[in-house]
Amino acid sequence: MKILSIESSCDETAAAVIENGRKIISSVVATQVEEHKLYGGVVPEIASRRHCEAINGVIKETLAQADLDFNGIDAIAVTYAPGLIGALLVGVNFAKGLSMSTGLPLIPVHHLRSHIAANYLAHQDLKPPFLCLVVSGGHSHIVEVTDYTKMKVIGKTRDDAAGETFDKAARTMGMSYPGGIYLDKAAQNGDENAFKFPKPKVDGYDLSFSGLKTAVINMIHNADQKGIKLDVNDVSASFRKAVVDSLMDNFVKAAENLGYTKLVLAGGVSANSLLRERVAEECEKRGWEYFYPPLSLCGDNGAMVGSQAYYEYLSGNIAGTDLNARATMSIE
Ligand code: KG4
Ligand code: ZN
Repeated sequence: MKILSIESSCDETAAAVIENGRKIISSVVATQVEEHKLYGGVVPEIASRRHCEAINGVIKETLAQADLDFNGIDAIAVTYAPGLIGALLVGVNFAKGLSMSTGLPLIPVHHLRSHIAANYLAHQDLKPPFLCLVVSGGHSHIVEVTDYTKMKVIGKTRDDAAGETFDKAARTMGMSYPGGIYLDKAAQNGDENAFKFPKPKVDGYDLSFSGLKTAVINMIHNADQKGIKLDVNDVSASFRKAVVDSLMDNFVKAAENLGYTKLVLAGGVSANSLLRERVAEECEKRGWEYFYPPLSLCGDNGAMVGSQAYYEYLSGNIAGTDLNARATMSIE
């Protein structure tokens, strides 16, 4: 089964053709990041406009690279939630139009479920059940993936997401958007023990990053006011360690308590080099399996949408022409 999938939840207009949930036939991502850099973050109205301009060309290019027309496609899939509402609406309406004009079924895909599915494209043997840490710009969840379309959130951030925290810390240090990537690079040349940050204290498997974010911002501003020059690499390394420690502590604790021996990372922050190292280290120590997406599939893309869509289709999740976008929606 070949699915044409569309993603427009944030600042990438993307599409792909995916076969049986596991094989990328073609994948095209048009990023708007250079324009949003001018403003230090994603400007929703600009994102919507750029999606409108790009979507037709991205889909044409995706089909051309797959050497297919709509006769070779079996279904249309689209990210419909969660995300920037104006951005999501562009993809959803385009997908509805394609579904109506071709008569192909329309498959609605949850954005975070698709981030998890990025792993199915890279790891052909990976199957649920597993425990997944979903960390993106807007979300930080620990999720029990009991089946391809059955999930239970057992822990989540009470305030800011991990990606957002990295981005804010990076911006305070004068790094460009999306700061998480630049902070990770700077951290590679820094001393992770140079600065101590408070350990977030939250019950159960929940997470919290607002205290850490405030601590790093205050530290940088205080130093600025006193004319002290902090080593950006050291601040980045110490801050990255604090965020990753907090994520890994709860992820490993949850796996131990619930008996999971297969751990998976998903979302934009799964590109973080320390997080990847740490999950490998903790799992190897315990003889557990671990998976994370290749860097090319960590950020938003259409391929992951087509992968999850296949499993949504198999479970009977088909949308009508009344499909609407939603800015927020649980992954469950
Ligand atoms: O999943 P994603 O592409 O978009 C959302 O669905 O939010 O995640 C984007 C987030 C941004 O906050 C970005 O800074 C972060 O992922 N990110 C990273 C790294 N690469 C991307 N954070 C830390 N280290 C990285 N290497
Ligand atoms: Zn995302």
